[in-house]
Amino acid sequence: MAKSFSAFIPSLNAGDFPPTELKVTWTILVVEETMETIVLKVNPQRPELDKIRIAAEYVKKGGLVAFPTETVYGLGADALNTGAVLSLFRAKERPLDNPPIVHVSKTEDVYELASQVPPEAERLMARFWPGPLTLVLKRSSKVPTVTVAGLDTIAVRMPRHHVALALIRESSCPIAAPSANIAGKPSPTCAKHVLDDLNGRIHAVLDGGPTHIGVESTVLDLSVDPPQILRPGGTSIEQLRKEVDNVIFHPFAIAEKELPVEKAKSPGMKHRHYAPNAKVILVEGSLLDVPAKINQLAETYLQQDMKVGILATTETASAYKRGTIKVMGSRFNPADLARNLFALLREFDDEKVDIVVAEGVPAEDLGVAVMNRLRRAAAYNIIKTE
Ligand code: TXA
Ligand code: MG
Repeated sequence: MAKSFSAFIPSLNAGDFPPTELKVTWTILVVEETMETIVLKVNPQRPELDKIRIAAEYVKKGGLVAFPTETVYGLGADALNTGAVLSLFRAKERPLDNPPIVHVSKTEDVYELASQVPPEAERLMARFWPGPLTLVLKRSSKVPTVTVAGLDTIAVRMPRHHVALALIRESSCPIAAPSANIAGKPSPTCAKHVLDDLNGRIHAVLDGGPTHIGVESTVLDLSVDPPQILRPGGTSIEQLRKEVDNVIFHPFAIAEKELPVEKAKSPGMKHRHYAPNAKVILVEGSLLDVPAKINQLAETYLQQDMKVGILATTETASAYKRGTIKVMGSRFNPADLARNLFALLREFDDEKVDIVVAEGVPAEDLGVAVMNRLRRAAAYNIIKTE
């Protein structure tokens, strides 16, 4: 059944997309009202080719398939098919001004998608791909306007996951894939999270078990000088500086408070992100003070008959006595914190927690990405103890 986007289009700013392109979309797009989402369990190390091919058939026909990467699950569509990409935005309820990352299975494909591939990009691709690093480059005219949300740049990455790579290869196209969650929610780190958000809205999910890293890729803008990290993620600034020594953080990436929207460089910076249904408060400060402050806040909310969640670390968990306590991992092992963060935020929602009081963690290595996600999940509702 043909389905129009009439309810969706008014959110576009006039001039964002050429009207001709929208007209094309109108006629080619076929989206069913509801669909059955099929779950294809796959071996994450040696994915079964027959299952990958079923998923790839959907992608080739303009359908939507969720798949695991080493960071989080992505929701994939043929990046060169305008109708498919528009239905991706729709399924996620994602604002049209926030473009997805385009995933490739070989570096040669980048030269089709980008009009310029500077030497820094080539060094970084050689060193970090496949892996949790997304590069923002000047885009080529081959890429549809909606895939890049009208920008003159494109974000590309090669994921380090057998299932993702096999899907891209078998689909014979670059795959546009934002995280496979409803816009604004924590990203999915297992197939259950994908289904909780998108069951009945997408054609299939390749279930390859939990993801390894747990937070998204680092987004590095190489279309500017010096190169800027727009989103901290699975590849740390220290790692990047070994290849390109002048990489800096964009102020948004490490902001401790809300910055004016005009300063946003990446469209994703403007939108609410990573937020569970529960309100989140982040408490930052010295380890000596933080647990006491969290206990005090928890007590206040419990007295207001709220269901209180506490997001703790191994080192502090025993300091909390009341509320629903969940442990992310050791403060000294940021990889564990990153792996567990989004799943625990979703668990609080499953348990109908009203308010989550979260502990800040050291902003080192992957801890930079964890703190970026926590601050944004809290909508910069941060209490400092000192
Ligand atoms: O790990 C990941 O990166 C995951 C997996 C599925 O690969 N993907 C992911 O995609 O997190 P998404 O769409 O949820 O986040 C992409 C981010 C957004 O913040 C978006 O604004 C930014 O990349 N982005 C995309 N294209 C851009 C561009 N041309 N310039 C600047 N930022 C861009
Ligand atoms: Mg996302």
